[in-house]
Amino acid sequence: MSDAYVSLQQLTLAYGDSIAVPDLDLDINEGELITLLGPSGCGKTTTMRAIAGLMQPKSGRIFIDGVDVTRVSANKRQIGLVFQSYALFPHLSAYENVAFGLRLRRVASHQIQQQVNQGLERVGLQQLATRKPAELSGGQQQRLALARSLVMQPKVLLLDEPLSNLDAKLRLEMRSELQRLQRETAITMVFVTHDQSEALALADRIVLMSDGHIAQLGTAEELYNAPDTVFAADFMGFENIFKVADERDGLCYLAGRDSDVSARLEIAGSSEAGYLAWRPAAVSVGQGQHRGEVRSVAFAGETREYVIECTIGFVKAQVPVGNRVHAVGDVVDFELSLSTARPLRD
Ligand SMILES: Nc1ncnc2c1ncn2[C@@H]1O[C@H](COP(=O)(O)OP(=O)(O)OP(=O)(O)O)[C@@H](O)[C@H]1O
Ligand SMILES: [Mg+2]
Repeated sequence: MSDAYVSLQQLTLAYGDSIAVPDLDLDINEGELITLLGPSGCGKTTTMRAIAGLMQPKSGRIFIDGVDVTRVSANKRQIGLVFQSYALFPHLSAYENVAFGLRLRRVASHQIQQQVNQGLERVGLQQLATRKPAELSGGQQQRLALARSLVMQPKVLLLDEPLSNLDAKLRLEMRSELQRLQRETAITMVFVTHDQSEALALADRIVLMSDGHIAQLGTAEELYNAPDTVFAADFMGFENIFKVADERDGLCYLAGRDSDVSARLEIAGSSEAGYLAWRPAAVSVGQGQHRGEVRSVAFAGETREYVIECTIGFVKAQVPVGNRVHAVGDVVDFELSLSTARPLRD
C-alpha cells in the first residue's frame, strides 16, 4: 500500500463497454493541490467522479487517508465537490446554503452558527448572508459553493472547472482566493481544468492527461520548461515542433512536424531526440541562419508575434515590441538554435 493521502491504484473506469480511463495510478499527498489538466474528453471528470464515489471502477482500488474506499458510498467518503454548475439551493439564503450540510450532520445549532459565519467570512460573503443565490454575482455564487464545501471539512475537495463560468478578471481573483483558502485550510484539493495557465498558476503538481492516460506528471515549472513528449509540449505552448529528419556531420536536419518531405532546415549541433521544439519567445527575428517570409504580424502589447513561412512550414516567433518591425511579405532572417530547443519524443 502507498503512504499517499489519496491513492488511485490500477484504476480502470468505464461507461458500459467503453473504457474512459485504463489502468490509472496516481498518488496525491496530504494538503497538496493537484490539477488534472488535459483536452476535452481525456478523462478528468471521470477520474473525479470515481474519487467522489459517483461511479464504481471496473477494476482497481481507491484509498483515502489509509482506508480502501473503493466500495464505500459517496456520502460516506467525506469528500467535497465544487463543480462548474454550483448547484446551490435557489430558495435558500447564502447562510442556509452553507448551513445545510451541517444541519444534515446534526451539528449543534450554536456550532452551526459559528461555523457558517466563519465559512462566509472566509470567502468574503458575511455581509451577504441573507441573499438568495440569484441575488449574487457569478463570482459570489462561486465563493458560496466553496464555503458550503469547506465548512464540511472534507478530507479531499474536488473542484471540476469551477472557474469556467467566470469572466477573465474574476477568474484571476478566484484563483488567488483558492490558493489562500488552500493554504489556510490545508485541505487536499484536486482541481480540474483544461486551461494551461490556470493549472500553472494553482498547482503544486500538474497531472497532464491524454486519452485516459497520464501523459506527464510534475510541478508547474517541470511541465512548462521540460515537457517530454510532442503532446505535452504542444499543450504547454511550444508552438514550433519539428521532426528531426536526419543527423550527420554535426548538423541536425529538421522537417515539418508531420512530414518526411525533402525540404529540410539544418541547424548546427546534434540531437538524438525525435523532435525539437521551441516556444515562440525562443525564436529570434532579424538575424540568424535561416530565412523565411513573414506571413502575419500581430501586436500583443509587450510583444509582437510573427508567423514566418520557411522550407519546413511555419515558425511562430514572439519578439519584444521595441525590436525592429517587419511587415507581411518581408523576407527575414531568424534563428532556431539547438541551445534553446526542447528535445521531445513522440
Ligand atoms: N455518461 C457517459 N457515458 C458514456 N461515455 C461517457 C460519459 N461521460 C463521459 N464519457 C466519455 O468518457 C471519456 C472521458 O470523459 P470525461 O467527461 O471524463 O472528460 P473530461 O476530461 O472531463 O472532458 P471535458 O474537459 O470536456 O470536461 C470521453 O470519451 C467521454 O465521451
Ligand atoms: Mg469534464
